[in-house]
Amino acid sequence: MRKIIIAFGPPGIGKGTVGSALSKEMKLPLISVGDLLRDAVKNQSGIGKKAENYMKKGELVPDSLVFELLNERISQKDASAGFILDGFPRNQQQVIMLEKVFIDGDICFAMNLEGSDKVIIERLSNRRICEKCGAIYHLVNIPPEKEGICDKCGGKLIQRVDDSPQIIAKRLDVFKNDTKPILDFYKKKGWLYSIFAEDKLSETLKLIHKVIH
Ligand code: AP5
Repeated sequence: MRKIIIAFGPPGIGKGTVGSALSKEMKLPLISVGDLLRDAVKNQSGIGKKAENYMKKGELVPDSLVFELLNERISQKDASAGFILDGFPRNQQQVIMLEKVFIDGDICFAMNLEGSDKVIIERLSNRRICEKCGAIYHLVNIPPEKEGICDKCGGKLIQRVDDSPQIIAKRLDVFKNDTKPILDFYKKKGWLYSIFAEDKLSETLKLIHKVIH
């Protein structure tokens, strides 16, 4: 019996931050498709080379590439009891692909983290990530102990290339046009919970704990 949690929400609302906290609590791996793609780009793998240009522009990477990465990750041993999915599915085609991943007995929850564009833009402008381990910080709300240095691994903190104002706007458009429409599918299944995610992390987690366990 696997437990699968899908994190939906616009760019920068905190899917990775919340997912990472839940992953520790529930002892399930966080599978972030964005992180898998960024690693592929960093390593300049075949998929990484093809994905790089789409990501720089804030566009969705072709479904087949993303699914190849995801399938490979889900089949690893640590995901056998379940996983937390951040950044998948993002369009109709990916919904169909994910349906093929589910097996009898899976328990599934989908959480839709909600917040205004104003909060999203503020969070993304102040986000820094560790270039080594990918840990996520916010310059004001969740700062590192030492400026510019990752608390977890000592790596250098950098700004993501897609966190510029124009690319943030593009990513918001992609979310509204491609991803938002698929939420209905999960609502009809009875899996979807809307979570107000503008407050501090501990408050957001309290709301999630009320519905996901
Ligand atoms: P991806 O990496 O998934 O980016 P995204 O969906 O735009 O989401 P983000 O990672 O930007 O934000 P988040 O919601 O995780 O917020 P975070 O926790 O970091 O995807 C990147 C690209 O990859 C896509 O544009 C696309 O090209 C490609 N891609 C990915 N998946 C794909 C797919 N399925 N198909 C095709 N292409 C795909 O938090 C943001 C900031 O807020 C941080 O600074 C954090 O510290 C802060 N923060 C978080 N929560 C709180 C809180 N409660 N209070 C205060 N601050 C907070």
